[in-house]
Amino acid sequence: PTPILFDCDPGHDDAIALVMAHRSPAVELLGVTTTCGNAEIEKTTANALRILEYIGAGAVPVAAGCHRPLARPLVLGTADGPSGLEGSPYLPQATIRPVKQHAVDFLAEKLLSRAEPTVVVATGPLCNIGLLLLKHPHVLPKIKQLIWMGGVFYRKSEIITPTEFNAFCDPEALRIVLDSGVPITMVGLDVTMQVLVEKPQYAELAKIDTPLGRLVNDWLLFYEKLHRNSMGVGGAMHDPLALALVIDPTLVRARPAHIGVDLGGSYTFGATVADFWGERGLKDNAMIANEVDADRFFELMFDLLRG
Ligand code: BDR
Ligand code: CA
Repeated sequence: PTPILFDCDPGHDDAIALVMAHRSPAVELLGVTTTCGNAEIEKTTANALRILEYIGAGAVPVAAGCHRPLARPLVLGTADGPSGLEGSPYLPQATIRPVKQHAVDFLAEKLLSRAEPTVVVATGPLCNIGLLLLKHPHVLPKIKQLIWMGGVFYRKSEIITPTEFNAFCDPEALRIVLDSGVPITMVGLDVTMQVLVEKPQYAELAKIDTPLGRLVNDWLLFYEKLHRNSMGVGGAMHDPLALALVIDPTLVRARPAHIGVDLGGSYTFGATVADFWGERGLKDNAMIANEVDADRFFELMFDLLRG
């Protein structure tokens, strides 16, 4: 299995990605760190703990991270409701606790303690990863790859905003990460808005007659409301797709580019801008996923939910 450190802000789609990470024999979940984003840090941390304990992954250490973006106030995500995980009020609060270390110190210690560089998956705003690279710059060679759900580039699908939430929420952290030289794979809305939970996926889920199957169904029914009301589509499996690339990188095609993030625009603030042709004369700093095999992704997701 591929050992990973997982930085997230659960969040329904983060939650499903956590379930997949724990259940996949191809993934070794070394630790989970939480960031603010879909909800305040207390809530995303509580949610991570609730989910992990519920699925029998209570031994995975969880470290709480940044309570706000590096250089601006926190703007919360809107899809997941006040708790960050609405739709499953019956999911108990966890009895397990986070470790005492801050997420960035936890990440640094874990990365440095391992002989080989480690894959980091990040499915929230990059507050923790940006701060990690500021506070512990010597960990850089210990990050094998950063698979990040964030950004948007192509507008193939009906995307109603030039910015993606994780990029918009902490664009300064994103700038630090992009400029750091860490090998990044960006899994943006271009591909994640093509893995939507619609009727066939709900039908598949309905066949998983287990407490976990019902829990995920309840999450999705809440989570899809924002998408359904604003864009007329089902819930997008943003974060599960990013996690799935640890298991099967061939689910997407990706191409290299230099990525910048707009910190100044009034309408394009937080927008990710790709230079595919080297026009800015800058070195490529990321691989951008631009095509996805949605059917194969859902096969993998349902296989893991079936267990
Ligand atoms: C991203 O924003 C969050 O709301 C989701 O969890 C996902 O990580 C999608 O833009
Ligand atoms: Ca997320």
